[in-house]
Amino acid sequence: MDFAGYTVSDAIPLPPKTDYGIGIIGCGGIVNYAHLPAYNAAGFRVLACYDRDPETAERTARQHGIPHVAASIDDLLGDPAIAIVDIAVTPWDQPAIAARAIAAGKHLLCQKPLADRYDDAMRMVALAKQAGVKLAVNQQMRWDAGIQVSRQLIAQGALGVPADCRIEVSIRTPWQMWPWIAASDHLEIMYHSIHYQDALRFLFGEPEAVTSMHSRWPDQIEVGETRTLTVFHFPSDLRVTIDVNHHNWSDDAYARFRFLGTEGIITGTLGLLYDYPTGRVDTLAYQSHSEPLTWHEAALTTHWIPDAFAGPMASLMDAIQTGGEPVTSGADNLGTLRTVFAAYRSAAAGRTIPLSEIVAKGDTPGGDHLGDG
Ligand SMILES: NC(=O)c1ccc[n+]([C@@H]2O[C@H](COP(=O)([O-])OP(=O)(O)OC[C@H]3O[C@@H](n4cnc5c(N)ncnc54)[C@H](O)[C@@H]3O)[C@@H](O)[C@H]2O)c1
Repeated sequence: MDFAGYTVSDAIPLPPKTDYGIGIIGCGGIVNYAHLPAYNAAGFRVLACYDRDPETAERTARQHGIPHVAASIDDLLGDPAIAIVDIAVTPWDQPAIAARAIAAGKHLLCQKPLADRYDDAMRMVALAKQAGVKLAVNQQMRWDAGIQVSRQLIAQGALGVPADCRIEVSIRTPWQMWPWIAASDHLEIMYHSIHYQDALRFLFGEPEAVTSMHSRWPDQIEVGETRTLTVFHFPSDLRVTIDVNHHNWSDDAYARFRFLGTEGIITGTLGLLYDYPTGRVDTLAYQSHSEPLTWHEAALTTHWIPDAFAGPMASLMDAIQTGGEPVTSGADNLGTLRTVFAAYRSAAAGRTIPLSEIVAKGDTPGGDHLGDG
């Protein structure tokens, strides 16, 4: 569509061939309310699913018309009709399952976080490369309407030079939907703001350093941090900030983005976070420096859940048929993990962390290896 003199679209781009056989490992919440509705709408071919809880797998297959419930991971990986394995288990189980899928010659869509240790993530990326299979990470916020259209506007020069760019979220999050996340001592950045960090890297490129401050809410029952303030530092005058609070009990909740450049400003809201996981369509407005007081409002149509969830899978299929790399390739995702791990190290050490400090050796978000530079 034409928007303020620029060409934009919030449709999810699909490659010419989309009939790859897909096998799903892990049939929990996100697969049922996001992956499968998105894949059904896009016409993707899910052939089998597996969960360590057989009843969960059976129920998922029934609800979404999946023809086969695999008896084991080996059963699913042994099916030659399955070209792509979509993993959506709890994160600490993902690296070992990914290694088995890679050994079976399958292409992979992994969940975020790719791994909760940086060296595990590096190993997964290296294994996929050696085996000649594609590995994508499900950082689907890049296909969320507001982010996708912002990216197109920025690429066409609508901001001029980006200078002050931020995501600000103050909501009440139902962490009880994920008891294992509520029990994690690394919570907000590892499972939530990782999306904002990835989307902001996608829009503005690689920062050179990260500062982050983490805190809790009085009397919260979640173990880890639920309020974070993170700054991405760039060699230029660009400053990017992410400010998040998951304990806003009031009716003044918000989830907004604001990207201000020398020639324009984009502002909008992340609709999903106004009523998770149903959500609403994002809003996006643009004003040009040359047209003060005039706001152009985009007519967005797609939702983060489920529509954006077709994006990483479509991009993986595109990479398979073109021999290229998925937009959210494992190699690219190491950049997002570096900012995530730098944020944890910064909060623990109380200083700004150059990304060059985040190295392979046994990095964990807050473990023994993070404070030692
Ligand atoms: N927007 C997003 O991108 C988004 C949103 C929510 C969750 N997630 C990610 O998706 C993953 C799953 O989250 P969820 O909300 O569906 O969790 P969930 O707890 O609802 O489901 C996890 C499922 O995986 C199964 N499982 C766990 N370990 C397994 C194993 N070793 N083998 C087979 N099955 C196994 C469990 O039985 C369960 O059914 C997590 O990595 C989470 O971070 C991403």
